[in-house]
Amino acid sequence: AQPVIVAIDGPSGTGKSSTSKAVAAQLGLSYLDTGAQYRAITWWMVTNGIDIEDPTAIAAVAGKAEILSGTDPAHPTITVDGVDVAGPIRTQEVTSRVSAVSAVPEVRARITELQRSLAADAEHGIVVEGRDIGTTVLPDADLKIFLTASAEARAARRSGELKGADVASTREALIQRDAADSSRKTSPLAKADDAVEVDTTELTLAQVIECVVTLVEEKR
Ligand code: C5P
Repeated sequence: AQPVIVAIDGPSGTGKSSTSKAVAAQLGLSYLDTGAQYRAITWWMVTNGIDIEDPTAIAAVAGKAEILSGTDPAHPTITVDGVDVAGPIRTQEVTSRVSAVSAVPEVRARITELQRSLAADAEHGIVVEGRDIGTTVLPDADLKIFLTASAEARAARRSGELKGADVASTREALIQRDAADSSRKTSPLAKADDAVEVDTTELTLAQVIECVVTLVEEKR
């Protein structure tokens, strides 16, 4: 079979990662979490004392970190200059800064190039999840999905993941991050015209996975 390229976009807390990983595993495809790449470069900026408020400073060092993503859906990995950063990229410190770093065009150009090369190298195809995959990174993807859910559902899922974090403050942080991601100039979070929108508010994870698997199988 021809390699199949699946783009899954949407705001935070819609189940993109859980869905994408499971779909890739079931169908024998590679898996790429592009948010992890933006988090990794943000971690590098924070660790190296780069001023996150200064886009020029960020742009000047956008090419410095070597970011490697392992694309096995059973064991996705992410390293920066050889250091495993899977844990550190999920901290509040990184989460609160990632939208500012990922808005810088030089950062996006760099990360987009990595993403296209990983997608081109995936032998059986790949599920790539993010914010601008269907619109910018892989506009010729075989299938584009745009996942949505109510702000309440997204905040409840995210605070569950963060083990008891306060739902109200998680909701505010999510809304702020999505607003920043949707309003930036370069490749904002957006649904591609030819994407299939799936509202996951009333669906279980298993139902979302089944829905996407069926859509991929129809394309093969
Ligand atoms: O998916 P996740 O919440 O880990 O993404 C973290 C951040 O990375 C997003 O809030 C966004 O700022 C950025 N991002 C992006 N483009 C993508 C994926 C993530 O700008 N394709």
